[in-house]
Amino acid sequence: MSLLEVDDLRLYFYTKRGTAKAVDRVGFRVEKNETLGLIGESGCGKTTTALAIMKLIKPPGQIVHGKILFQDRDIVSLDKEDMRELRGKGLAIIRQEAQNSLNPVMSIGKQIAEGLLVHDKIGKKEAWERAEHQLGLVGLDTKMISHFPHEFSGGMKQRAVIAMATVCRPQFLILDEPTTGLDVIVQRQLLSLINHLKQELGLTALLIAHDLAVIAETCDRVAVMYAGKIVEHSDTVSLYRKPLHPYSQALLSAYPNLKGEKKQLRSIPGVPPRLINTPYGCKFEPRCSYALEACKHQEPEMMYQDGRYVACHLFQA
Ligand SMILES: Nc1ncnc2c1ncn2[C@@H]1O[C@H](COP(=O)(O)OP(=O)(O)OP(=O)(O)O)[C@@H](O)[C@H]1O
Ligand SMILES: [Mg+2]
Repeated sequence: MSLLEVDDLRLYFYTKRGTAKAVDRVGFRVEKNETLGLIGESGCGKTTTALAIMKLIKPPGQIVHGKILFQDRDIVSLDKEDMRELRGKGLAIIRQEAQNSLNPVMSIGKQIAEGLLVHDKIGKKEAWERAEHQLGLVGLDTKMISHFPHEFSGGMKQRAVIAMATVCRPQFLILDEPTTGLDVIVQRQLLSLINHLKQELGLTALLIAHDLAVIAETCDRVAVMYAGKIVEHSDTVSLYRKPLHPYSQALLSAYPNLKGEKKQLRSIPGVPPRLINTPYGCKFEPRCSYALEACKHQEPEMMYQDGRYVACHLFQA
């Protein structure tokens, strides 16, 4: 049984300009103790997928179809109270740019202890002690427990954010761009911290990142997203060795060198994905150099082939 199973998820934003299908028929599974990577260009729906799993989507966004099964319970139909209980101990998220949302007038210790007071129903003293222990676990000096966010560097803030997300020992952790914007050395330290915590806490994770080297080091499997859809889903080694979908090929070739210096993803020629009034057929067709006639009119189904999933007419017999 998978720990998390997303099935035919559709999440739309109802805007004045029209309906943006930010997540469109998305499905994937994450098995216990594995890490799934989610990659794709900016605006393709990665964060929206993550927030849907946490049930943190606000209007005009709405889940219009599908299931999100966590330990066989459908998150989509859970009420606020059940969801509050599930967050923290069951599911946790490190949101994109989470360090910017640290409370500037509350000590780091209090911010870490807050989750424990809500979810573990323990006293303030015990919560404080556990927060202190947690700071040590993420490699920060425990004396910094009563310090305020402005006294932390960017990398230290990110460690504090990781401490907050993991203090209640969640089973499933979503990391949305956890190392973006930090220098390469700090990125490396954070990555090894994340890998260490995964083992220490027995975590199952969903990692969203633009940096394909980060994904390669951390993830067992990877899902490639384009214009609200998953176009390919495979184990990391096979995907990196031989990407099947033309979009995956473009993404991987846009990334200069996996083993060399880390750089931000370069852009892929063509117009970025549209989510409002998307064209019929394959969403990547206007940018695809292998496009067939069928790609214009017919949306490709997800195909299973040799342990890999790909949604592309080139692979449909
Ligand atoms: N509050 C909102 N109102 C309207 N549309 C939204 C809203 N939030 C997101 N969207 C739409 O959903 C799309 C997907 O956004 P999302 O933040 O999930 O992308 P992403 O893949 O995480 O991008 P990035 O890599 O830049 O973080 C956006 O292109 C936008 O059209
Ligand atoms: Mg995002």
